[in-house]
Amino acid sequence: MKFFIDTANLDQIREAQDLGILDGVTTNPSLMAKEGIRGKENILQHYLNICEIVKGDVSAEVIATDYEGMIAEGKELSLLHSQIVVKIPMIKEGIKAIKYFSRQEIRTNCTLVFSLGQALLAAKAGAAYVSPFIGRLDDVSTDGVELIRSIVDLFHYYGFETQVLAASIRSSMHIIRCAEAGADVVTCPLQSILGLIEHPLTTIGLEKFLSDYRKLNS
Ligand code: G3P
Repeated sequence: MKFFIDTANLDQIREAQDLGILDGVTTNPSLMAKEGIRGKENILQHYLNICEIVKGDVSAEVIATDYEGMIAEGKELSLLHSQIVVKIPMIKEGIKAIKYFSRQEIRTNCTLVFSLGQALLAAKAGAAYVSPFIGRLDDVSTDGVELIRSIVDLFHYYGFETQVLAASIRSSMHIIRCAEAGADVVTCPLQSILGLIEHPLTTIGLEKFLSDYRKLNS
């Protein structure tokens, strides 16, 4: 399973990269706005900065919602850097855009996926990734991880190459459950990744090892 970080914050991306386990980055307009990145030139430069830190796929989302607009923006983003994956929303025009990019061998990440039917259409259109938002499903009393499991099963059954990228991860437990469900990728906040490291017995065990060492070596 690949680990992506879901942020546009360069410090957090560097910290995750320093761990040595980072495979890529996902961004979206809200995450870019959170970092105060505004204006086309600054936005494009920010994607380039991210690509310099991480040697993996970097999802960059189009703002247009019409077919022509998505094609124009997606082409510009894909030409920016070979690591860029064009993020396209799961709407009717988006499906057409994904199909277009697939024919051009430009990789896409279909975002805002909340159902098996949406995932099926994205895969059929040739998306490289499909991004079900599991936290937002949980928010409306629907089991997001179960959707991951269903999509993974469906894609395996039909042999789709589209990777299942679990998004809207809110906790370390989400990551573990997505791994158990067979997600190809999880994109997570830094804290959820770091939370996987923690265990009270590890802390207690390490303290004991070190205190026993010090008793004889100080
Ligand atoms: O990857 C999608 C993510 O950024 C959305 O997360 O927590 O806003 O639902 P959240």
